[in-house]
Amino acid sequence: MPTLHFRGLDDGDRSVEAPLGETVYEVCLDHDIEMVAACGGFAACNTCRVRVLDGTLSKMEEIEPPFLDREDQRLGCQACVVGDATLLLDPGEM
Ligand code: FES
Repeated sequence: MPTLHFRGLDDGDRSVEAPLGETVYEVCLDHDIEMVAACGGFAACNTCRVRVLDGTLSKMEEIEPPFLDREDQRLGCQACVVGDATLLLDPGEM
């Protein structure tokens, strides 16, 4: 099973097993990682945003770009696990 490495969390770095196809948001919920999801995971905010520091996530969804400021950002509720990746939570303004 792939591993997601989370950097810069309030309680330090964490590495967790992440099932293929699960969203980053779902992985965070499963492991009590504090990702804010103000819209409930419906791609209508940017509080779940992450930066991909290493590795890769699923292909960018068409709905994501308006919520992103940088090329390495993704919406955690839309990006799915496809392999190991290192991520930094990078929430936008609520
Ligand atoms: S939780 Fe709102 S866009 Fe992901």
